[in-house]
Amino acid sequence: MQVILPVAGVGTRLRPLTHTLPKVLLPVADKPIIGHIVQNLLDSGVDDLVFVVGYKGDLIEQYITENFQGTFTFVTQAERRGLGHSIWVTKEFITSDELFIVLGDTIFDVDLSEFVGTGKNILGAKRVEDPRRFGVAETNENGVVTALVEKPEQPKSDMALVGLYSIQQASELFAALDHIVDNDITTRGEYQLTDALQYMIEHGTEFQLQEIDGWYDCGKSDTLLETNRHLLNNGCARRSEGSVVRDSHIIEPCYIHATAQIERSVIGPHVSVGPGVKISDSNIDDAIIAGDTEIESVRATSTLIGKNCSVKGAVLSTILGDDSSLYS
Ligand code: G1P
Repeated sequence: MQVILPVAGVGTRLRPLTHTLPKVLLPVADKPIIGHIVQNLLDSGVDDLVFVVGYKGDLIEQYITENFQGTFTFVTQAERRGLGHSIWVTKEFITSDELFIVLGDTIFDVDLSEFVGTGKNILGAKRVEDPRRFGVAETNENGVVTALVEKPEQPKSDMALVGLYSIQQASELFAALDHIVDNDITTRGEYQLTDALQYMIEHGTEFQLQEIDGWYDCGKSDTLLETNRHLLNNGCARRSEGSVVRDSHIIEPCYIHATAQIERSVIGPHVSVGPGVKISDSNIDDAIIAGDTEIESVRATSTLIGKNCSVKGAVLSTILGDDSSLYS
């Protein structure tokens, strides 16, 4: 079985951090977003992974190949023409019948055996308050999907597609994607995976929904911080041995990299501190601080700070891009 991970997106909602890194390389808890996803897959024994890269794809390839062992293929999506298009470009690299697609900005906490090796086509779903932002699934009384609609203005169901798709016959999916692309069928100007799956349903393929709880979106600053809180609460990352913490109070849960230094500060709860970060005389909660940043006399909450920043004497609740200086 192969897994397709579409990670070509720019991550405009996380600018300015995504000016220098693709979204999936932004840190959350102890590693980049994509690191959590790949680790989950490898831990479940799934190691044939096909990454669809675009924006700053060379950085993604470098991170994956330097940090993980597996069979990794990197396919470039030259033009970003939608999620369906990003799957379509992998066609010649897919050799297995069974496929699992995982969206790159979704950290999932599910038992993978509910999705793969079941012999069924399964879509991950969750009830949401506002389904209009998602692909929406309608089902019959037996739980079989009867229709899929991408971001409907008037949703007929509150079951949203979360970004986990298990497909038994890759050839059926690619035939549907060929149909969408060859006939230029778009929704909101893009080739949609949802539309290809709907085409499969109309041609007799049966899909079932698997409702999941553990779905953590990383697409915006507030959801990235929420995901950070969740991962830290679940003990995914702890203060590393070797970090220097002097005259400070750490309110757990926090992640502090082994090479970080903290002095005369109150840190936490829910703070992730990257490698080489130096913090002094500060009070920080609910934050992700990437590597090699220096922070002095800062009060910060609900904040994302990039790499190589220098922040002094500030009160923050913001997103600060890599290499920024902020002094008051
Ligand atoms: C994509 C899919 C959508 C799905 C969503 C989950 O939308 O097109 O069907 O519900 O991911 O996050 P996007 O968030 O890329 O607009």
